Amino acid sequence: MQHLLQFLLLLAMPVGSPAYHTLFAELLGTEARRKPDAGFALIESTAMAPISPPGDTPLQGKHIVLGLSGGVACYKSAELTRELIRAGATVQVVMTDAACQFITAATMQALSNHPVYTSQWDAREPNHMPHINLTRQASAVLVAPASADFIAKLAQGRADELLSLLCLARPQHSCPLLVAPAMNREMWSHPATQRNVAQIVADGAQVLGPAAGDQACGEVGDGRMLEATELRDELIAFFQPKLLSGRTVLITAGPTFEAIDPVRGISNHSSGKMGFAIARAAAEAGAQVTLVAGPVHLPTPRGVRRIDVVSARQMLQAVLPLASQHQVFVATAAVADWRPATEQEAKIKKDGSGQVPALALVENPDILATVAGLPIAQRPWCVGFAAESHDLVRHARLKLERKGVPLIVGNIGPATFGQDHNTLVLVEQEQETQLPTADKLTLARQLVAQIAQRLPALQMAKPA
Ligand code: C5P
Repeated sequence: MQHLLQFLLLLAMPVGSPAYHTLFAELLGTEARRKPDAGFALIESTAMAPISPPGDTPLQGKHIVLGLSGGVACYKSAELTRELIRAGATVQVVMTDAACQFITAATMQALSNHPVYTSQWDAREPNHMPHINLTRQASAVLVAPASADFIAKLAQGRADELLSLLCLARPQHSCPLLVAPAMNREMWSHPATQRNVAQIVADGAQVLGPAAGDQACGEVGDGRMLEATELRDELIAFFQPKLLSGRTVLITAGPTFEAIDPVRGISNHSSGKMGFAIARAAAEAGAQVTLVAGPVHLPTPRGVRRIDVVSARQMLQAVLPLASQHQVFVATAAVADWRPATEQEAKIKKDGSGQVPALALVENPDILATVAGLPIAQRPWCVGFAAESHDLVRHARLKLERKGVPLIVGNIGPATFGQDHNTLVLVEQEQETQLPTADKLTLARQLVAQIAQRLPALQMAKPA
């Protein structure tokens, strides 16, 4: 009862506040101590390695040269500028003459809060060399939209106006080039364009998209520029350290749904957000990711292969053949512990007599324990989750033993189900590591980094 009251209190508190931490610590069975200068931190009684979150401006400190060449998609670049700035970046816009036909430099200046450059003869630069100066401090050049003509220029190394000139003059080691094509589907599929795209990729450019869909000309097909938020996320992913490069990661996420009859079933409040964030973070870190998802309404992270399932048994069926093909297995799914012993084919009817149907339950297979019990040559490195209501560390430790896995990630279920924030504790045989309250993507990136650190030992034992 006391724990229940504590939960309700925890849910009502601002996430991350000192009081939140103190109460969370009590539920964890840990002690909250005040750090002299850095707010509150949870200090475990056993070995702890506190990690500070990087914050929720993932492009902080990044300086992006955003180049616009001619295309209707220039309208998306206005929104993209705002998205990049919102994510913490500074944005310097450079436009070709053709881009100025589609959107004004005044709009782009107002949105980027910096004067826009449109000519290599711009006299504002004291040395009269904007094509050199603009990229020397830049983190990346992103050309969005990149027209067919502009890609052709890049492929040939032409430099007859400022944007192509600065792409050629940029220091390639410190200022990568990203290109977001936007053009009619016939132009995109033309062998000349495909040849040029292959050439700029061979020269080191990263091509983002294009997407398929409705085009400004009325046709439908490949060639649409990615949306502003997609390009922002591509850029964020681009800058993430490639800690899982060459690795394969299998993840379960969301709840399962166990049918009672065609209209009813047993499920839980898991939103899938944590598992989807881990899938995104692992893909950003360079892994090949397969996500087996229970019934949730979440978009698939870019670059992630997704398999949708409904019940625990379907989840097991999907996971088992894949497990041995992956090096890491992260079981975040809140799998229903029990399912109805029989699924009724027709809806169970209420007959007005006050009689309630007897519901016999049987236990579901334990997916994590099954994978962890595979022969060593087929077994990925397993990470389990423990969503508890109290005594988190103790329960997580019990789960570590019971499931036979090297790492259990503990969180307080009722405090995090459906929320965008979470607080994690990594429980291993020898130590506990606290990941303080942060948004789920930030935590997912930290967890991925922690998993990556632990993988070399695994790789020595079991080469990929
Ligand atoms: O047994 P419990 O549900 O408390 O354990 C939680 C961990 O085990 C999570 O990682 C969850 O994804 C996994 N699990 C599973 N199959 C089950 C039950 C839990 O994979 N049937």
